[in-house]
Amino acid sequence: MEALAARFARAIGRGAGTVFLSGDLGAGKTTFVRGLLKALGYRGLVKSPTYTLVETYSIGGRSIHHFDLYRLAGSDELEAIGIRDFVDGQTLCLIEWPERGAVGLLQPDLHLRIVLAGDQREIAITAYSGWGNAVLHRMSEDGHRVSLPETDR
Ligand SMILES: Nc1ncnc2c1ncn2[C@@H]1O[C@H](COP(=O)(O)OP(=O)(O)OP(=O)(O)O)[C@@H](O)[C@H]1O
Ligand SMILES: [Mg+2]
Repeated sequence: MEALAARFARAIGRGAGTVFLSGDLGAGKTTFVRGLLKALGYRGLVKSPTYTLVETYSIGGRSIHHFDLYRLAGSDELEAIGIRDFVDGQTLCLIEWPERGAVGLLQPDLHLRIVLAGDQREIAITAYSGWGNAVLHRMSEDGHRVSLPETDR
């Protein structure tokens, strides 16, 4: 998961966008985010924002928001906390449990889905924008097997 996150970090570079992270409890969403932040140069502690809803990291002059919407009641609550001030297209936003209120409210550039298969994890990444597509292509050039964008939207 950390190796995949490092490839993802290389493909993102200094780009910004919205990334949904789906998968059951313990699938590895936070592990992925930890690996990503580390690969982007963050050296501090990465806490799971299950109770705080969002943690913001400052890395090399840019901000990265990490959300965990597990405890959220729905889209209304997400709008009430001013989600649009966070997800402004200029900032990298990583959103765990988007199903709890972000789906339908926010447009993701990329959606990473983790499925537990025995003691293994299968990960599919879908792109929904030009930037998302570019990230996927850079990842595949980086030698990683990725699924091609689907038209499920
Ligand atoms: N290959 C792997 N990838 C990710 N996590 C793994 C892997 N193997 C073991 N683990 C362990 O599984 C747990 C995954 O937890 P993690 O917090 O990343 O999941 P999560 O998807 O964020 O869960 P939640 O929905 O509760 O936020 C961690 O304890 C991690 O060490
Ligand atoms: Mg988590």
